[in-house]
Amino acid sequence: MVEPRSIELHINGETHVVSPHTGHTLLHVLRSTLFLTGTKLGCNQGVCGACTVLRNGVPARACLTLARECDEEEITTIEGVAPDGKLSAVQEAFIKVAAPQCGFCIPGMVLVATALLGENPTPDQGEIREALSGNLCRCTGYVKIAEAIELVAEQAV
Ligand code: FES
Ligand code: FES
Repeated sequence: MVEPRSIELHINGETHVVSPHTGHTLLHVLRSTLFLTGTKLGCNQGVCGACTVLRNGVPARACLTLARECDEEEITTIEGVAPDGKLSAVQEAFIKVAAPQCGFCIPGMVLVATALLGENPTPDQGEIREALSGNLCRCTGYVKIAEAIELVAEQAV
């Protein structure tokens, strides 16, 4: 049997050499090979956004992304948002306004917010809601999540 070829994933600033099978998704490799379980498995079909990571800085659904497509790419997961154990401004704001309820959607929400604020430090409510529109929160915490992002935007002014 032919062994799967190796690829290099640059995840949260560290290089991981892995050998995923052809059909293995990035989500599978993150959670089951590298045990980076902060990235959540929700619908597993591209609908909920729970599996959102940043792929070269852009939000991507890890459940729809084949791991092999990410060879040599920069991947940021929720574990990489607070690398030294210090919460990011986005995470601080989520806590401050009590945005997380069960927390399941929050890693994806934080990464979407991080990408949005990196591109546009002062988004308005419309832009915030547009950015969040692909991420579902079954606890219906959208108002607080949008409020948290607005708080970070206000601090940037
Ligand atoms: S688990 Fe990937 S979009 Fe739902
Ligand atoms: S906080 Fe529970 S799914 Fe969003």
